[in-house]
Amino acid sequence: MDTIILGIESSCDDTSAAVIRNGVLLSNVVSSQAVHEAYGGVVPELASRAHQQNIVPVVHEALKRAGVTKEELSAVAFTRGPGLMGSLLVGVSFAKGFARSLNIPMIDVNHLQAHVLAHFIKETEEDTNQPKFPFLCLLVSGGNSQIILVKAYNDMEVLGQTIDDAAGEAIDKCSKVMGLGYPGGPIIDKLARQGNPKAFTFSKPHIPDYNYSFSGLKTSFLYSLRDWLKEDPNFIEHHKNDLAASLEATIVDILMDKLRKVAKALKVNEIAVAGGVSANNGLRNSFHEHAAKYGWNIYIPKFSYTTDNAAMIAITGYYKYLDKDFCTIDKPAYSRVTI
Ligand code: KG4
Repeated sequence: MDTIILGIESSCDDTSAAVIRNGVLLSNVVSSQAVHEAYGGVVPELASRAHQQNIVPVVHEALKRAGVTKEELSAVAFTRGPGLMGSLLVGVSFAKGFARSLNIPMIDVNHLQAHVLAHFIKETEEDTNQPKFPFLCLLVSGGNSQIILVKAYNDMEVLGQTIDDAAGEAIDKCSKVMGLGYPGGPIIDKLARQGNPKAFTFSKPHIPDYNYSFSGLKTSFLYSLRDWLKEDPNFIEHHKNDLAASLEATIVDILMDKLRKVAKALKVNEIAVAGGVSANNGLRNSFHEHAAKYGWNIYIPKFSYTTDNAAMIAITGYYKYLDKDFCTIDKPAYSRVTI
């Protein structure tokens, strides 16, 4: 019998639903919320309201595109956390109610684990370019920067993580300081392609072990910019591309330095990247350079699976389903947790 999993994602500002049959993706519908653009960041209350409006049509569309009826579903998987509580509650409540009404198992998914398992989303049966266990995954998003040792689908160990801001958060905040739009990541990426990454130098952290820190870089960027603006009020306009390129290069260097150290210490050469910041072209290029120089087998997800999506929730749910790792209706959403 087919195993058909409906995945639901609502941890931040994307409402998403996806259907996976026997590990192969049938549909992935993502409704992004434009309402936050005017505020320069996600407004939690507006996000929950938009999720409430979107959740039924998005699930309906995902089932329709998959050509699957709700009665054919084997289980409903949903993001239980971490994320914005109000946003999570919409997806969690819907998923639980839907699973209960169909009398099928509900499967809770850790959003961070799902970002890592996005590498196992298969668009066709023949899709076999997947990391082999054990592999290292650099998880870089708006809220997290972690190096994870992935031993199996359900066995992950965080070896290092940020002690303050995440890489994406630092990019977004620096972009805000420059008066660019939201989210800053894609804008910085675009500008950086035309800039000189060596034009400016920003301070890099000296953090022990395999941990990261990005708050110092953010401050260094802000103070340097303030000084330069005193000399030239149009400094940002004149140097936009170089500022973006230098900022991006500093962040990529910080991320790759630690990843390289871990890979060397553990003698692992299966290396993956995941999370919203893995869409960044500078980071992707650096992965390719490392592959050529150090013999890494690298795994970079498709753009559509780097940011929040339900396909990664559904695939994580699929592997938990195979393990009969189900959730009970009393399990609440959680806003903070690591892997
Ligand atoms: O994983 P994600 O979609 O959301 C969570 O944090 O869960 O990641 C969003 C982050 C934002 O900080 C955004 O600016 C960043 O990913 N981002 C990028 C790019 N696209 C998205 N950062 C750099 N370059 C990009 N192309």
